Amino acid sequence: METQTLAAALEREHREIDEGVEAFSARQGSGDEGQAALSRAIRALRRHIYLEEEFLFPPLREAGLVAPILVMLREHAQIWQTLDAIEGDLRAGGDADALCRQLATQLLHHNLKEEKVLYPQADAVLTASATGQLLAFLDSGELPDGWVCQKAR
Ligand SMILES: [Fe+2]
Ligand SMILES: [Fe+2]
Repeated sequence: METQTLAAALEREHREIDEGVEAFSARQGSGDEGQAALSRAIRALRRHIYLEEEFLFPPLREAGLVAPILVMLREHAQIWQTLDAIEGDLRAGGDADALCRQLATQLLHHNLKEEKVLYPQADAVLTASATGQLLAFLDSGELPDGWVCQKAR
């Protein structure tokens, strides 16, 4: 665990969430397994956004990355709305197909920017204890009930 960089751990979570959305899209109409994968991916993505906004972005903002973080916060709100729309569509009996494609496109652009601009700085900027806390949260942290991303409140 000590040798794992924060950037690598966060990138791995991006990939896992992408795979969950893809697993659902590839199984359109074929029932529970795809939906379970999508539900897990949605929960993981909301928790990922929480972790970034509460623990990762504040020290990066203090280090001067103000404008890129503002863009990321706006995109989180758009992604959050797509997640709400997917859940609403599934509850109403829809297939959420178009919304999942929209989510995949949003994540493609958002994640690439984080991975190129923000995550490489994370390993340089966060203290060892902040990094340790973040890695521990990635391992077993829970999204607080009712938490909504900053720009979707
Ligand atoms: Fe993000
Ligand atoms: Fe991210």
